Amino acid sequence: MSRVTADLVKADNQFIHPWDDIVKLGKNKRTVIERGDGVYVYDSDGNRLLDGPGGMWCVNIGHGREEMARAIYDQIMRLSYTSPWSLTTGPAVKFSQAIAAEAPGDLNHVFFTTGGSTAVDSALRFVQFYNNVRGKPEKKHIISHKKGYHGSTYLSASVSGKERDRNSLDFVEGLIHHISAPHSLWKAEGQKDSEFLDQCVANLEDCILAVGADRCAVFVAEPILASGGVIVPPKGYHQRCLEICRKYDMLYLSDEVVTSFGRLGHCFASEAVFGIQPDIITTAKGMTSAYIPMGAFLVSDRLLDEVKAFGGDSAVFSNGFTYSGHPVAAAAGLKNLEIMKREKLFEHVQEVGPYMQEQLQTLRDIPIVSDVRGIGLMACVECELNQGDTNLAMDYEIGNRIDRHCQALGLIVRPLVNMCVMSPPLTITREQIDEMVGILRKGIELAMRDFYDELDRDKPGDQHQAWGG
Ligand SMILES: Cc1ncc(COP(=O)(O)O)c(C=O)c1O
Repeated sequence: MSRVTADLVKADNQFIHPWDDIVKLGKNKRTVIERGDGVYVYDSDGNRLLDGPGGMWCVNIGHGREEMARAIYDQIMRLSYTSPWSLTTGPAVKFSQAIAAEAPGDLNHVFFTTGGSTAVDSALRFVQFYNNVRGKPEKKHIISHKKGYHGSTYLSASVSGKERDRNSLDFVEGLIHHISAPHSLWKAEGQKDSEFLDQCVANLEDCILAVGADRCAVFVAEPILASGGVIVPPKGYHQRCLEICRKYDMLYLSDEVVTSFGRLGHCFASEAVFGIQPDIITTAKGMTSAYIPMGAFLVSDRLLDEVKAFGGDSAVFSNGFTYSGHPVAAAAGLKNLEIMKREKLFEHVQEVGPYMQEQLQTLRDIPIVSDVRGIGLMACVECELNQGDTNLAMDYEIGNRIDRHCQALGLIVRPLVNMCVMSPPLTITREQIDEMVGILRKGIELAMRDFYDELDRDKPGDQHQAWGG
């Protein structure tokens, strides 16, 4: 490591990163990433690393696009900012039109935010506003999934259901209810697919009835639970949940922060992949391919018409951000969508997505690989040393070791505990998928060998005790 890099790594401890362990602040040694090109990034020692997670499910068109830099530069030179309150700009108007044109059904209006958390937060505030205006202020309760992730503002974090994040922070109490994630891995032995689907849907209906339908406002769901571990629901789940929502006068908010802008081979996945037309869709990440932060929620004409009908002379949605519809972010978003369409990236994902899934499935022959799942260019390879045995400390250790080996071999993984998420740039080729899967295989095998060697050395033949299971 060069002197300059060593200084940076040390000084990086002044920067509190997301999810930082404050007790360990001062001891972190993060890799410094210096530049990116296509599906690869390069660290400060010049090592080339394939970007397996695509940043964080967001670098959809790949790194280092000159066209994006030009679009951003040109917009800054023309106009870097103006207030979105009483003024507007061409890029914001055109981008909202372009997004609405891609969205299903009558989701024709766009509210711009600064990222995914603020998209979810604003969308939920819109739901409260909608019910208040139409004279149903008691309809405030939100239902979402355990293992769901919806952001890091007070409200979006409270709606998130990842238990491991429920540590020393506070959450909105009493208004939010979490139902089990529809994880096919949890299907009971001998249970038919249709029975499992019924059970998952019943979880939602039971929750609504327990809270009281007149108090339930909205069901929030990711089409595929992304950072909960790429949980793919059983076929028909979202359609059936939407029917339940309709039955109880509840709204359906589809959180497409990860799944939109091509990850599943379509601009939006709700209708194209899951056959539903939600009332609200949230998006971010791939919306600008992470060149500039931006998010949005899309809302249906139906909801806006109701607000207009009930609102009398005025119904002000008092919610927004200095950077709502930021012209530079909108210009980046427009260029991003133009590139996706010109290069037929959605069709490309439809073509290479199944190939990536097939290739990842071949990893199932590694003894510690317990599950491989996904759709499109979104997948998860889950590893457990003693399959079926839950041991969080060991799960973290497996993930860390796979991560270290893969990085040394040229692949960024950054597992979610013991789950290796693959969500590469949409431009990835078959050859690059082979490279990615090949390195992942070696990394997992090396991590497994480390464990087995240590087990042999420390406590021969007693895996459970050696690893605290
Ligand atoms: C489904 C989903 N919703 C919302 C968010 C929050 O987005 P952001 O980190 O841009 O605020 C994320 C982030 O990973 C996400 O995966």
